[in-house]
Amino acid sequence: MFESLKRNVFPRLLERGGSSGIRVWVPGCSTGEEVYSIAICLSDLLEESGAARMPMRFFGTDASEIAIQTARAGCYPEGIEESISTARLQKYFTHVGGVYRISKELRDLCVFAPHDVTRDPPFSRVDLISCRNLMIYLTTAAQDRLLPMFQYVLNTPGFLLLGPAETARGHAGLVVLDEHSRIYARSPGERKLPFVSTFQPLPDPVTTAPAPPGPPPPRSISEGTSIGCSWISTHPAGWSSRAT
Ligand SMILES: C[S@@+](CC[C@H](N)C(=O)[O-])C[C@H]1O[C@@H](n2cnc3c(N)ncnc32)[C@H](O)[C@@H]1O
Repeated sequence: MFESLKRNVFPRLLERGGSSGIRVWVPGCSTGEEVYSIAICLSDLLEESGAARMPMRFFGTDASEIAIQTARAGCYPEGIEESISTARLQKYFTHVGGVYRISKELRDLCVFAPHDVTRDPPFSRVDLISCRNLMIYLTTAAQDRLLPMFQYVLNTPGFLLLGPAETARGHAGLVVLDEHSRIYARSPGERKLPFVSTFQPLPDPVTTAPAPPGPPPPRSISEGTSIGCSWISTHPAGWSSRAT
């Protein structure tokens, strides 16, 4: 899955990024691993490409306040050594007090906010939405509202990753890029409001996200793990390779 993102999506994001930059939204981000995984991979690719730095913003949202607090803290147990290369641990984490903490530079690129996808206004002008393992929590009716909403807020080109467990079920506005990983591209075309409601996309997530919190509350990492989050890097061809 991550290999497919690297092949099919990230280069196109970097190509069109330019001065307008790249905006990624991870709804149902749980404790943040997916957001940081994408941020790390795109940062590495940008550096490898030799292109000029460009603005990048990664928005992680979740209905669980406690998950969001953990994501903001960016502290993970030493067990992540199994799935993240030593080089990346050294580059993107500080190892203090028995935990690995995401570096401040990377945390500054990531904004986490509580958000319920079934009720709250979506982010706008997004280049990539990564929404893995969230739809199973929703009713069929809520799922049917979610996909048109994702299509509405995606830029063109814009991409949606659902992961192998979920499907866009032939939604007309989304073209399949990778059937196995369930990666879709927004089809060019008219941007129509997906349903009649009071729904209004947020004008700018940076200004609407809550202010950064103070020090994270004491909370064991195992609570986060039990929510069901995972590093995208667990894909063998992804950035889990300890050789990288
Ligand atoms: C299994 S986790 C997925 C985490 C991450 N996307 C991954 O695949 O590693 C599902 C997350 O969806 C969140 N969630 C459930 N219903 C939600 C909703 N209506 N709006 C936003 N988040 C929701 C849960 O709190 C949980 O953190």
